[in-house]
Amino acid sequence: MSLLSGKKILLGITGGIAAYKTPLLVRALIQQSAEVKVVMTPSSKDFVSPLTLSTLSKNPVLSTFTAEDSDNPVWNDHVELGQWADLLLVAPATANTLSSMVHGRCNNLLLAVYLSAKCPVFIAPAMDLDMYAHPSTQENINTLKSFGNHVLPVGEGFLASGLEGKGRMLEPEEMVSKVVSFFNPTLELKGKKVLITAGPTYEAIDPVRFIGNHSSGKMGYALAEVALKMGAAVTLISGPSSEKINHPSLKLIKVVSAEEMLTAVQEFYDSTDIAIAAAAVADFKPKKIASNKLKKESGLAHISLVPTVDILSYMGEKKKKQKLIGFALETENELEHAKGKLSRKNLDGIVLNSLQDPDAGFSVTTNKITFIHADFRAESYPLQSKLECAQRIFEQILTL
Ligand code: CTP
Repeated sequence: MSLLSGKKILLGITGGIAAYKTPLLVRALIQQSAEVKVVMTPSSKDFVSPLTLSTLSKNPVLSTFTAEDSDNPVWNDHVELGQWADLLLVAPATANTLSSMVHGRCNNLLLAVYLSAKCPVFIAPAMDLDMYAHPSTQENINTLKSFGNHVLPVGEGFLASGLEGKGRMLEPEEMVSKVVSFFNPTLELKGKKVLITAGPTYEAIDPVRFIGNHSSGKMGYALAEVALKMGAAVTLISGPSSEKINHPSLKLIKVVSAEEMLTAVQEFYDSTDIAIAAAAVADFKPKKIASNKLKKESGLAHISLVPTVDILSYMGEKKKKQKLIGFALETENELEHAKGKLSRKNLDGIVLNSLQDPDAGFSVTTNKITFIHADFRAESYPLQSKLECAQRIFEQILTL
């Protein structure tokens, strides 16, 4: 097979016992016709021989800023290496290297290459279970994800310490298959039209003030990004959000209020194949919008509120061929409330997230979701980036 033909992979190896598997990783990458160069941290050489890696990769292995055994030292240019690569894969990545990557430390060639690299970076952590579970490691992983790196999951099982648990480096074949899918995304949504609502809505009180909520739009934008990667034509109807997105197959419609969001949905819903309501639509709006700024001195005894239109219920009523997915953000009796919304709004699935979960919900880059099907079958996922959550959601939608 040559699924990585023409791809230049820079493999960064750090000093963990899982480094003994890296020759197999190099071989598996080469078998897919990738060109591979290897950069090692000094301590990784205690676990795997540079000669094995240079033989398999057919390229010199680098580990120092200048070529070693030479009277006339040659500069191993980290910038050039970073620019050469189509993808940097750090495997295994020790807890120490993860921490250094988070903090921008640069005391070996691999870290310098990482800081210089403009290509996508994949990181395969490997360590003992308690080190992996430690809050500082988990925080480092989340920070690295927030920098845009792809942190691969760890395997579970027998560890070098003799303990059993989570912390094994992903097996070389699994890593290669992740790299292959990254370069050859499956276009399962090619030809499909996906409509996504995202962000908050703002309901005006007067020309200056509004009723809104803390939604950042991150989840809806992540869904749009994944749908675009899967080949869909996406209409993203977004309330006020500072998220950025740009793609030739994307129509981005910016709205402010629930009413405007509904009008945009009405325009596109009929021709939609998959609709996902990720917006945190304000449930109430002022009965009247004051035409001038309300003055403090005049006082404000109360604001009369009326319900906004329920956009998702509208889509549920008008549903024909569409697959319709809602979100439920709950703080108590989560499953029960989500199932209620699923039935009431005539949905094919609902994504439940709880504000009880730390690092899930508004503003943060991570989320913890449960996907509930129309027959109430539920699939729960651990805390992961909103992009990964979006991937899980589309995996579920494809089973509908
Ligand atoms: N939704 C919508 N229009 C509204 C309110 C909600 O389209 N006016 C959609 C949201 O985008 C989400 C789902 O309905 O997909 C559930 O939203 P949520 O705020 O959790 O529930 P509500 O139906 O508003 O009920 P409650 O606030 O009582 O929990």
